[in-house]
Amino acid sequence: MTARILLVDDETDVLEALRDRLRPARARWRVEIAQGAAAARDLLAEKGADVVLCDLSLIGGGDKLLEDVRATHPNVVRVLSSSRQDSAAAIAGARCAHQLLGRPFDVSTLLDALERASELAALIARPEIAAAARALGAPPPAPPLLTTLSNLGRDDVQTLSRALQSSPLVCAKLLQVASSPLFAGRRPIDSLDQAILRLGVTMTREIACALAAQGALGRAVSSSERERLAVHGMRVARLVGALSPVRSETALSTALLHDVGLLIAPTAEADHAALGAYVLALWGLPRAIVEGVAAHHAPSDADLIEMRPAALVYLAETLACPEEATGPLDEARLASLGHSPASIEAWRAQLARAEDGTC
Ligand SMILES: [Fe+2]
Ligand SMILES: [Fe+2]
Repeated sequence: MTARILLVDDETDVLEALRDRLRPARARWRVEIAQGAAAARDLLAEKGADVVLCDLSLIGGGDKLLEDVRATHPNVVRVLSSSRQDSAAAIAGARCAHQLLGRPFDVSTLLDALERASELAALIARPEIAAAARALGAPPPAPPLLTTLSNLGRDDVQTLSRALQSSPLVCAKLLQVASSPLFAGRRPIDSLDQAILRLGVTMTREIACALAAQGALGRAVSSSERERLAVHGMRVARLVGALSPVRSETALSTALLHDVGLLIAPTAEADHAALGAYVLALWGLPRAIVEGVAAHHAPSDADLIEMRPAALVYLAETLACPEEATGPLDEARLASLGHSPASIEAWRAQLARAEDGTC
């Protein structure tokens, strides 16, 4: 599918150069250019776009243009670039843009950012997510540890351990996860390096991303509610681990994060699943996690057939913590999708063992 991007700058040369750099990806991107904010507003009104990219230094202010875009075209993804690496640029970006891009950028960084923007545009096109985005207004900034972990050059125990040491809270939670019955070996875990060795580098990194995302939110709720949701997330992660046919860091991260929307700003207009998915997508978490969070109370047929993360969280909550579920298990639907009453009984038994700590 081709996505439409509108590039905005005051200089025609800059726009032409940017368009040239995007030429190798022309099958993926249809590029429009606008010289100045007024031309951008006209083009947007006339043709629309999926993504708008402009620079903070645009005459009249790139942030002002993106604030207008937010008001007039809320489903368009807004990317702000800046050659300034200071807090003013970061604040402007956090206020009006979905993504802030440092300048100069190389083509792969730009395409990577645009790819994320395009995924976000597809997500925002869903009515429930669009309502969540509107209710949220200015998105919360991504936690620094999440950014660090996404940009780690090497994937080894030492590099990961060094990055994680900047966040004692995340380290403490990782030790807790690694020591949980799901991962317990013969020896108890008492150091970060041991935790990484037990979980594996990839799984540690994904779970740490989930914990960093969870830890960055929650200012809108009481500390007791934050603690309750953290404990609930760990419990559902344990249950999902027991249901998973294979151990999956994506499923565990989805389970840890599934109710993160409740930490943001519960509102009547936005349901917490959509709100959580929207913020996690903004922060660039993997699409499978975002999709899983979005659908954890209403998995699709495909989710349930393939036992994707949304289905695992839904089954874990409906069968083991019905007070958190939106209704009873739809056994007829599950049967029509190939899950027999015997498999449902087997899930119940697995979940009971997980609750007992015997698996
Ligand atoms: Fe939940
Ligand atoms: Fe939920």
